[in-house]
Amino acid sequence: MTTPRPLIAGNWKMNGLAASLDEAIEVAGSVRPVDARVAICPPAVLIHRMSEALKGTSVLVGGQDAHWDDRGAFTGDVSAEMLADAGAQMVILGHSERRAAYRETDEIVARKVEAAVRAGLEPIVCVGETLAEREAGDTLDIVTRQVRGSLPPVLAGKPFSVAYEPVWAIGSGLTPTIDQIEEVHRAIRDTLEKMFGDHGRTIPILYGGSVKPSNAAEILHASEVGGALVGGASLKAQDFLAIIRAL
Ligand code: PGA
Repeated sequence: MTTPRPLIAGNWKMNGLAASLDEAIEVAGSVRPVDARVAICPPAVLIHRMSEALKGTSVLVGGQDAHWDDRGAFTGDVSAEMLADAGAQMVILGHSERRAAYRETDEIVARKVEAAVRAGLEPIVCVGETLAEREAGDTLDIVTRQVRGSLPPVLAGKPFSVAYEPVWAIGSGLTPTIDQIEEVHRAIRDTLEKMFGDHGRTIPILYGGSVKPSNAAEILHASEVGGALVGGASLKAQDFLAIIRAL
């Protein structure tokens, strides 16, 4: 099995209006697809327009969440099938903001992953410890449990990635040391190999949490880091491009 190219994914969160599509177009105009796969995950209402605007470019479009059912009486929700229908190729699932604000458990995340696979979307499944969990020395236990619980067997042989995002590093400007990142990524790799055998060796493990142009090179070159999930710094094309070029 060959190792996939690194994935750099931008998570716009609840930011961006139609005018922001220009940032995505600027990224697509400058990115060199040989080095990495690049994705932008805008708010759901921009997915269709963004996928139209980026047609023919190498930049992929993704959602930030999806329901576990394909359709039904779930007011306000969006299904994986709908994201795919709107032009998305990927979807972020289990982001800590959703785990915290909407009480998404590993079981719920795993059901959402199954829905994403049914819809033909490539999931980016997020895991990560809180500051209290890190200070209690529980980081590896928590992250391993999240990986085991959030990745259903249906992922075997399918394209997906895992994003390690320490909750305390998200949007805070704080980042773990490279040693801390490598320690957790190694634990995730071990778990993936146990769960998926050979395939587990090639699944990209992204790092996320305050990645910016100034720290991207060091993080992206750390061992077992197969890309990045970038929040705030993905909103401006020049910052996002600087991170991609740091590879
Ligand atoms: P940040 O967010 O880069 O703004 O810290 C990362 C994320 O939440 O995916």
